[in-house]
Amino acid sequence: MTLKVGIIGVGGIVRAHMPGWAASDLAEVVAGSDINEATLQKWGRDHGVQKLYSQAEDIINDPGIDIIDVCTPNRYHAPLTIAALRAGKHVICEKPLAPTPGEIREMIAARDASGKMLMTAQHFRFKGNSRALKAEIECGALGDIYHARSWMLRRAAYLPGPGFVLKQHSGGGATIDIGVHILDLTLWMLGNPKPVAVSGVARSDLAHLPGQFSIWSPNPVPPDWDVEEFAAAFVRFENGATLVLEVSWLLHHDTPGEDMQMWLYGTRGGSHWPGCNIYTTNYETRQQYNLTLQKTADIMEPHALECVEFAQAIVDGAPSPVPAEHSLQVLTILDGIYRSQESGHEVSLL
Ligand SMILES: NC(=O)c1ccc[n+]([C@@H]2O[C@H](COP(=O)([O-])OP(=O)(O)OC[C@H]3O[C@@H](n4cnc5c(N)ncnc54)[C@H](O)[C@@H]3O)[C@@H](O)[C@H]2O)c1
Repeated sequence: MTLKVGIIGVGGIVRAHMPGWAASDLAEVVAGSDINEATLQKWGRDHGVQKLYSQAEDIINDPGIDIIDVCTPNRYHAPLTIAALRAGKHVICEKPLAPTPGEIREMIAARDASGKMLMTAQHFRFKGNSRALKAEIECGALGDIYHARSWMLRRAAYLPGPGFVLKQHSGGGATIDIGVHILDLTLWMLGNPKPVAVSGVARSDLAHLPGQFSIWSPNPVPPDWDVEEFAAAFVRFENGATLVLEVSWLLHHDTPGEDMQMWLYGTRGGSHWPGCNIYTTNYETRQQYNLTLQKTADIMEPHALECVEFAQAIVDGAPSPVPAEHSLQVLTILDGIYRSQESGHEVSLL
């Protein structure tokens, strides 16, 4: 059985999905759609894909397609996903699943009504070091995790397209663009406890300084940039655990490019990602151990692996590799950061 894949939005990130669809024995890309006709035609030529649709509704309603892969800017994820589920397609959708929790609830309702699979493309879960650490945590290496510190901090490193820096297309700035990555990974490691409250800030202080730039673009900051570049938050969970989160596209930080880290602290041990280190103590000897996991290699580039495993889960009738309920938790926290910024106080997430 070969599942037929149609991709909506054949811009940047689709380049990372194509090797996954090519590597899967169970899926094959047969169609693409994009509102930019030149982009669509070039992508079709480059990949030998014949069915090219300038209207998303036409690819969604193509009866020869089983999977829709949504790779558009964030604001279009929910309407396209819901339409595709209603048309009886399985959907893998880029992160964030949607910019708001309300949209994700509607996507979950459409998924449940359709009986099809919905997965968020959170590729960091598919890295070898993430899986290695997750397996150790599930075996109890850290005991009960009661605190996490996570950040994704970039120094003058943002994607300058309107899909990222204009709220009408993105739904938000660094918080939902990259906060979604490190927060999804952290919640997954914590076992997805229910978040109950958040106090946070989400602001832009550097974006419009004269000469501001991105190391990924020769152009200056778009003058109509209207999203936040920075967020920081303190999150409380129902099980008593807490999280400190920091995100920026532009911080004056010591690391060039990107610094993405997660520290977890439990009753038996602590851990560091991406280092894949575990820290523990023998209280009888007062000996402290710093252990490094050895088997952490990627089995495939993670954006590709997520596509391979999505197709496999459909064929196996297995659960979604990244369920929408997990993304609802992520966006509930990120939306709470925006609400906390507005109110100036901790907000309830219940
Ligand atoms: N997982 C990752 O590492 C990663 C990295 C980059 C981007 N992303 C996500 O992928 C998504 C797309 O980002 P990108 O970098 O590919 O952006 P992009 O701007 O390079 O490509 C988006 C494409 O979608 C098309 N498009 C826009 N609206 C459309 C619509 N309504 N219907 C059909 N096509 C439409 C655009 O013309 C463009 O070709 C975003 O949600 C982003 O957050 C994920």
